[in-house]
Amino acid sequence: LSSYLVLLAAAICTKAGKAIVSRQFVEMTRTRIEGLLAAFPKLMGTGKQHTFVETDSVRYVYQPLEKLYMVLVTTKNSNILEDLETLRLFSRVIPEYCRVLEEGEISEHCFDLIFAFDEIVALGYRENVNLAQIRTFTEMDSHEEKVFRAVRETQEREANAEMKRKAKELQQARRDAERAGRKAPGFGGFGSSGMSNLSPAAIIAESMVEPEKPKMASAPVRPSGPSKALKLGAKGKEVDNFVDKLMSEGENVIPSAGKKQSDVSKVLQPPVNTEGVHLKIEEKISLTCGRDGGLQNMEVLGIITLRVTDETNGRIRLHVNNNDKKGVQLQTHPNVDKKLFTADSLIGLKNPDKAFPLNNDVGILKWRLQTTEESLIPLTINCWPSENGSGCDVNIEYELQEESLELNDVIITIPVPSGVGAPVIGDLDGEYRHDSRKNILEWCLPVIDENNKTGSLEFSIAGKPNDFFPVSVSFVSRRNYSDIQVDSVTHVEGGSLVKFSTETLFVVDKYEIL
Ligand SMILES: *[C@@H]1O[C@H](CO)[C@@H](O)[C@H](O)[C@H]1NC(C)=O
Ligand SMILES: *[C@@H]1O[C@H](CO)[C@@H](O)[C@H](O)[C@H]1NC(C)=O
Ligand SMILES: *[C@@H]1O[C@H](CO)[C@@H](O)[C@H](O)[C@H]1NC(C)=O
Repeated sequence: LSSYLVLLAAAICTKAGKAIVSRQFVEMTRTRIEGLLAAFPKLMGTGKQHTFVETDSVRYVYQPLEKLYMVLVTTKNSNILEDLETLRLFSRVIPEYCRVLEEGEISEHCFDLIFAFDEIVALGYRENVNLAQIRTFTEMDSHEEKVFRAVRETQEREANAEMKRKAKELQQARRDAERAGRKAPGFGGFGSSGMSNLSPAAIIAESMVEPEKPKMASAPVRPSGPSKALKLGAKGKEVDNFVDKLMSEGENVIPSAGKKQSDVSKVLQPPVNTEGVHLKIEEKISLTCGRDGGLQNMEVLGIITLRVTDETNGRIRLHVNNNDKKGVQLQTHPNVDKKLFTADSLIGLKNPDKAFPLNNDVGILKWRLQTTEESLIPLTINCWPSENGSGCDVNIEYELQEESLELNDVIITIPVPSGVGAPVIGDLDGEYRHDSRKNILEWCLPVIDENNKTGSLEFSIAGKPNDFFPVSVSFVSRRNYSDIQVDSVTHVEGGSLVKFSTETLFVVDKYEIL
C-alpha cells in the first residue's frame, strides 16, 4: 500500500506545463496540481536529457512524448527506479488509445487514459503489471459501465413516465380550473412543447450515484462534462490490434477461443452444451528439442477463461482441482482473491459483493511451466537420417510419453531436399503427403493415444542428414496437459452448486526438433 502513497499524480501535459489529463492519487486540489504542472517545465534545464527533477516537496519523473510530457508527480522518498518503470508503463498505454500524441487526441481519449492509469495503480505496479492485465481489467470494468448504463436508462424511463403522469395531472387540473372559471395557478400554456423544456436528465442527475471504483483517486483535472462511466470505450477491434501488438512484442497472450476455433474446428467440434457458466481451459505448448534428444526449452502456458451468460450466476466461486505434479506456476487475475485461492483453491472476486462480468470472456487463472526435463515432453520425435552412398535413408518415430493425452490431427513435418524427386516411402504408420513445392514431407496421424503410443516412418531420398531438420510437429487435443481442472462452482451466497460446462484444449504454438 505504501507504494500508492508515493505516487501523487500521473499527468500528460504540454511542453509548457498545461495539464491535458491528470489523475491524482491523493487528495489534491485542481489548483494545486495545475500549479505543480505549470511549474514543472521551468525546473528543467533546457536541452538536457534528464528523466526527473525535484523541488523541496515533490519529484517529477517524466518522459517526453513528442510535443507533450508524460509526468508522474511523486513524493521525494519514492524509489526512483520503480517510478521510472511505472512511468514506462503509463507511457506505453497512451498509444493504445491515441493515434497521435497531440493535445486534441489526448483530450478526446482522456477517459480511456484515466481508466488505464487507474488500472496500473489499482493492480499495484510493483507486481509486474503488464499491458495484457490492464486490458483484461479494463474489460472487466466495462461490465460495470453497462450495468450503470442500464440502470440510468431505467431511471430515465421512470422519470419520463413520472413526468408524463405529472403533466397529465396538471392538464387535468387546468381543465378542471378552466371549467370552474378560474386560471390554473402558475401553469398557463403548459403543453407538450413546454414539457420538453423539463429535461429528465436534470432530474436524474441528482439521484444518480456514479459507481466509483474503490480507489484513492480524486477527480481528474481536465475531464468535466460526462462522467467517465458514461464513456464506453471503443473496445472490439482496437483490442484485437492491441493483442496482436502485445504478441509481436513478445507478450504471452493466449488468443481467445474465437480465433483458435477456426484452426481447430476441422477436427474438434466445439461443445454443444454450454451452460450459463462456461469454462475454457486452454494450454499451449512451445518446445524446442535438439536432434539428439536434448530438450532445449519447453514452455506450457495455461489459462482458465470464465464466461457467465446467466446473470443469476455472476456471484460465484470456482473450486480448482490442481493435480499438477510437473511444477507449474499459477497466477490469479488481479481481481481474484489471492488468499482464498491459496488457502482453499477457490477462485472468487476480491470483493464478494461483485459479480463476474456478464457475456465476457474473463481470464481468471493462468499457469506456466518451463522446463528442460525430457521426461515431460508429451510426444518425443526421433528423426534419424543415415547416408547410404547415393542419398539418405531416414527413420523417424514418435512416442507418446504422456499417456493420459490424446493427440488429434498430428502432423509431423520433415523438410526434404528440392529438385531430387519424390521420397521413396518404406514402412509407414498413418499417412503421408509430399509437397514438392514447399519441399516438405508431412506425416499425418489422426490419433495418438495410449493405445497407439508409437509409430514410425521410413523413407529414402537424395540428400545429406542436415537436410531433414528442423522437424516440426502440430496437433490439437481436448485433454489437459497439466491436470488443472475446475471441479465445482458454487454461489457465494448460500454455497449451493451451480451447473457449469467445461471445454478443454491443448494446442501447439511451436514444436521443433532442430
Ligand atoms: C494407430 O495409429 C495409426 C496411424 O494413425 C493407425 O494406422 C492405426 O490403425 C492405429 N492403431 C490403433 C490400434 O489404433
Ligand atoms: C539409398 O538412397 C536412395 C535415395 O537417394 C535410394 O533410392 C536407395 O534405395 C537407397 N539405398 C539403400 C541401399 O537403401
Ligand atoms: C486432465 O489430466 C488428468 C491427468 O493427466 C486426466 O486424468 C484427466 O482426465 C484430464 N482431464 C481432461 C478433461 O483432459
